[in-house]
Amino acid sequence: MKYRIGRVLISEGQLREKVKELGAQIREDYKGEKVIFVCVLKGAVIFFADLLREMGPEVDAQFDFLAISSYGASTVSSGIVKIQEDLSTDIHGENVIIVEDILDTGLSLSYISKLLRERAPKSLEICVLLDKEERRTQPVNVKYTGFKIPDEFVIGYGLDYAGHFRHLPSVHIAEPAE
Ligand code: PRP
Ligand code: MN
Ligand code: MG
Repeated sequence: MKYRIGRVLISEGQLREKVKELGAQIREDYKGEKVIFVCVLKGAVIFFADLLREMGPEVDAQFDFLAISSYGASTVSSGIVKIQEDLSTDIHGENVIIVEDILDTGLSLSYISKLLRERAPKSLEICVLLDKEERRTQPVNVKYTGFKIPDEFVIGYGLDYAGHFRHLPSVHIAEPAE
């Protein structure tokens, strides 16, 4: 393995607090409404499961999943977004919130939002846990952002290096292993 687990960038406690904060905002914005939350596999899955538990009875929350891949086993984006598995729900006329672990170049989210917008949802917003702002090449409009982070290679809490380290409960910096 070319990378190993380095220092903690965002701790479990910080993640928990932020997820509660984002959850409270979304719950307030959508109370009494139906929302289809779209989890972008695989990276968003841990954040998604934690965030959705914050919705409580106030929101009629439903789940769906979209599998895409741009990075594959590489640490650099291929530049091509591929849909591996589409939604199983018709989102026409629905409130939709796309949930992502990280916004990097913006390639994935700009592709996904364009694709879903074509299906004419009632509303479409994005919730992203981490934002590597300085890496952006494609503009993306995000309503709910967790943390802005520096341009470091991060792993854990869903984020991987070639499929490894997604299960770590904190976000760590990946360090090159000599
Ligand atoms: C990662 C990450 C985001 C995307 C962000 O996914 O989870 O989905 O890249 O990068 P971008 O803004 O440059 O498009 P990846 O393709 O590695 O798939 P994964 O979620 O299965 O790890
Ligand atoms: Mn992803
Ligand atoms: Mg990945």
